[in-house]
Amino acid sequence: MAGGDRGRPAVTETLRERLERAYARAAAQEESWLWRQSRLTAAATVALVESLTLSPEARVLDVGTGTGAWAVPLAMRVPLGWVVGVDQDAQALAAACRLAAAVGLANVEFRAADAGALPFAPESFDLVASRFFFQHQTDPLPALREMCRVVRAGGSVLAVDVDDGAALTWPEPPPAAAAVLEAYRRHEARQGRDRQVGRKLYDIFRRGGLTQVQVAVWPLPHWGAAGEPQAREAAGVLREQVTASGLDAAAEGLSEDELERGLAELERSYRREAFRLQVLFVARGTKEASG
Ligand SMILES: C[S@@+](CC[C@H](N)C(=O)[O-])C[C@H]1O[C@@H](n2cnc3c(N)ncnc32)[C@H](O)[C@@H]1O
Repeated sequence: MAGGDRGRPAVTETLRERLERAYARAAAQEESWLWRQSRLTAAATVALVESLTLSPEARVLDVGTGTGAWAVPLAMRVPLGWVVGVDQDAQALAAACRLAAAVGLANVEFRAADAGALPFAPESFDLVASRFFFQHQTDPLPALREMCRVVRAGGSVLAVDVDDGAALTWPEPPPAAAAVLEAYRRHEARQGRDRQVGRKLYDIFRRGGLTQVQVAVWPLPHWGAAGEPQAREAAGVLREQVTASGLDAAAEGLSEDELERGLAELERSYRREAFRLQVLFVARGTKEASG
């Protein structure tokens, strides 16, 4: 490559390379665990976005967009279309704008909005998508009804979410770490969040009135050798995720010591030679034409 071309993206640069380069460029100012986790999983996100049946001209809404980790690759996937990401968290939206700018995208915008009252006219989008959103809804139907209202007849609603019941780890986490993970799951459930929502998406979509509902599973295997930088970073992110959830040790029957010991064990187990499998559930349904 000639000296003058240095720093310019190669013509053949893939979506994945482009996104990872943007994450690296924007990294210095981003500290939230959600941002760091999104950066770690960017390659898997792009693979999932690339697998979607989607016209390059599609108008897409991403509900609960957070730091734009799902909206930005979607926008890269619809270069002739348009993506709007909405969230109620202004700080996350600011990070989403920085990510889109780092990629150099002009076909994505972010707006503050509540999913239960979307500020769009009926039938405004070809696809209304969400990722890791329904796990945060105590009652998923108000948001889903809004998503159905703003998608056009014949368009799709898509949800990607987790189900911890389909995850596995080898070696199994040591007992102190397993106790913290179980306390975290109970805490999340008490807050009205559901880390086992994946298996329920089919039922939720049907109750929301969508037709032709299909749920696919998308395996995310991770294997790591001890001491790899990625494993170290993932361990730190996991600790922050649990801490930031506001987990109250006493309310979950753990002493502060047990919580700290469990978190330390969890971090150590992530840094060891290990295999982990997380499974994403990908639900897609169609809005029928009325009448
Ligand atoms: C775990 S984050 C997922 C972010 C992003 N979709 C991703 O895949 O990285 C969930 C997001 O949903 C947002 N959220 C939850 N309930 C919401 C609501 N009722 N209206 C708007 N945003 C909401 C939260 O603010 C948060 O940013």
